Amino acid sequence: MKIIAALVTASINKPVSTTIGLLILFMLSAMTVVAEQLPPPSATTEYSKEGADTCLQCHDQDSKFPVLAIFNSPHGNKNTKHGPFSSAGLQCETCHGAAAAHTVKRLRKGQVRAAMISFKTKDVISNDEKNQLCLACHQATTTRHWLGSVHQSNDLACTDCHQIHISDDPILNKAQQLEQCGQCHTKEKVANHSVFSHPLTSGQMGCTDCHSPHDANNNQLLVSDSVNETCYQCHAEKRGPFLWEHEPVTDNCLNCHRPHGSNQAALLTQRAPYLCQNCHNSDGHPSFSYGSDDAQGQQASAFLLGRSCANCHAKIHGSNHPSGYKFQR
Ligand code: HEC
Ligand code: HEC
Ligand code: HEC
Ligand code: HEC
Ligand code: HEC
Ligand code: HEC
Ligand code: HEC
Ligand code: HEC
Ligand code: HEC
Ligand code: HEC
Repeated sequence: MKIIAALVTASINKPVSTTIGLLILFMLSAMTVVAEQLPPPSATTEYSKEGADTCLQCHDQDSKFPVLAIFNSPHGNKNTKHGPFSSAGLQCETCHGAAAAHTVKRLRKGQVRAAMISFKTKDVISNDEKNQLCLACHQATTTRHWLGSVHQSNDLACTDCHQIHISDDPILNKAQQLEQCGQCHTKEKVANHSVFSHPLTSGQMGCTDCHSPHDANNNQLLVSDSVNETCYQCHAEKRGPFLWEHEPVTDNCLNCHRPHGSNQAALLTQRAPYLCQNCHNSDGHPSFSYGSDDAQGQQASAFLLGRSCANCHAKIHGSNHPSGYKFQR
């Protein structure tokens, strides 16, 4: 069957006089193709009748762009219901478009091979149109809030993040998201290499623990509808409600923390006492700025050493102690 298909493709571009025999074969094989293969009736004239077999005559693993790994990916699965290679699928042409003119065996002098959709930067269709191809199958699930998302409105293509001709798409792997997302988001990637950071390099976490890259629902593509809700997923003990709340904590964790990494312990934006002194003056007890001299001699100050203000105000995220209103217990 494959051999016949190859012969047929070979015959298509030869003068008719030399291929009458092949023509008969062509009709024969066309019948078999209809019986056991894919193209839906409406598209038979434009789509190649042999599906992937046509393409694989010229594109394989040794080509400049190796294509076969797709068959080890979910897209290559013949047994899914609605995949490109399932029984009703258009195979390679699902994504790359109708190929008939492209598959010409030998080009005449000066003739240019008809272009396919390539998903590269310079393409025959726009990013929006490319995305429509993917959304045709994916709109209902993961990407239902794609339209209006920051990535969509900044004209990203699905394929700026996703790779198709690969058995394991790296962007789906948390251990690789720092690199993958970091290609465009260098600031966040660099921050993660600070002295203190969330464990992204080990793959214990990924960008997608806090962000959902397709989603238009929340600010900053966060997985929850506020910064704090996002953090509470894992730091539930900070949620409260506490008998004594510290206002900046319930307001926004980022009043004091940097989610992508910091050179201050505990991912703080600044070290205490400076951190606290952004908002607190010296009413009640002196909490002025201290210089390096204060750390010397016997008068070493609890306001400066160790955890600084948190030496005494240890329950800085809120307290449930009846007399914890100054967050000391
Ligand atoms: C007769 C050989 C041949 C067949 C059959 C063939 N291609 Fe190609 N294809 C090429 C060549 C050669 C190129 C490189 C572009 C060029 O040099 O003109 C190419 C390029 C491409 C590109 C890159 C975009 C572009 O247009 O340059 C895609 C995508 C592609 N082919 C997909 C397919 C698919 C899908 C099929 C099957 C439906 C297919 N090809 C069948 C020879 C072929
Ligand atoms: C689910 C969609 C999809 C299917 C099905 C698919 N491809 Fe692709 N193909 C892509 C995307 C996306 C790219 C761009 C590179 C990447 O992201 O992996 C690509 C790249 C290519 C390229 C290189 C294009 C260039 O400009 O260099 C060729 C050639 C190609 N595919 C051929 C095929 C063949 C042959 C098949 C069938 C065996 C096939 N593709 C099936 C989506 C698909
Ligand atoms: C003909 C329908 C169809 C088209 C078109 C299609 N997909 Fe898929 N895609 C599927 C199916 C089916 C699966 C497997 C889903 C499953 O097993 O749950 C899948 C899986 C995926 C996955 C998960 C892969 C994994 O390793 O788990 C990603 C990501 C994806 N598709 C992205 C894309 C992108 C990007 C495009 C456009 C270039 C695209 N798809 C085009 C049907 C399609
Ligand atoms: C900014 C990068 C990015 C863009 C752009 C992007 N995705 Fe994704 N996609 C991801 C990441 C990361 C995941 C895995 C985490 C998740 O499920 O949220 C994912 C997951 C998926 C999955 C589910 C895979 C699974 O097995 O759960 C599908 C399907 C998918 N994307 C399709 C698309 C389609 C279709 C588009 C274009 C409309 C697109 N993606 C655009 C990054 C992206
Ligand atoms: C621990 C949770 C968390 C992780 C992990 C995380 N982020 Fe964020 N990210 C946030 C929060 C919270 C914001 C909102 C910042 C704000 O409101 O100012 C944000 C904002 C952003 C922004 C917008 C920044 C701006 O200036 O507008 C980008 C881009 C970003 N993150 C990318 C990433 C990338 C890429 C990764 C993975 C390398 C990542 N993030 C990992 C929590 C996280
Ligand atoms: C191809 C480039 C590219 C890749 C890859 C990419 N992004 Fe983006 N991202 C953008 C652009 C462009 C914007 C909008 C401009 C900006 O804020 O920098 C953006 C914005 C964002 C924002 C800020 C949203 C807001 O409301 O301001 C977050 C968060 C984000 N991306 C997370 C991610 C995550 C997580 C990944 C990996 C799964 C990722 N991005 C991969 C290009 C990219
Ligand atoms: C997916 C789970 C997860 C989410 C969501 C998350 N974190 Fe974390 N966080 C961790 C893990 C894991 C560590 C590392 C703990 C360790 O090293 O012992 C950590 C560490 C920290 C630390 C430093 C702890 C220390 O002892 O140095 C701070 C501060 C922190 N996270 C704040 C936040 C903030 C703020 C947010 C929301 C923007 C957030 N986290 C969201 C899992 C998460
Ligand atoms: C007013 C400033 C401030 C705000 C707002 C704040 N934190 Fe903290 N956080 C700190 C300080 C200071 C430390 C270090 C405490 C120490 O040295 O004992 C810390 C430490 C942490 C730690 C590591 C040590 C521990 O107690 O587990 C985590 C995790 C953490 N914060 C999460 C959060 C989360 C989640 C939020 C938002 C709900 C938040 N923080 C809001 C000041 C703040
Ligand atoms: C973003 C501003 C901000 C930062 C930073 C901040 N706080 Fe507060 N803090 C407040 C506000 C607002 C209140 C509530 C004041 C009130 O109720 O009068 C408060 C209340 C307090 C109280 C209780 C005071 C009272 O009058 O009951 C203590 C103690 C305290 N903070 C200590 C700290 C310490 C220690 C730090 C540094 C780790 C810190 N704060 C960082 C804004 C901040
Ligand atoms: C040696 C322990 C200690 C250290 C260190 C300390 N405090 Fe206090 N702080 C207290 C005590 C005790 C009170 C309660 C005073 C009272 O109840 O009248 C207090 C009260 C406060 C109050 C409430 C003010 C008021 O009028 O009641 C604020 C705000 C505060 N501290 C901020 C800070 C900041 C900011 C730092 C770091 C620069 C700091 N504290 C360091 C012991 C300490």
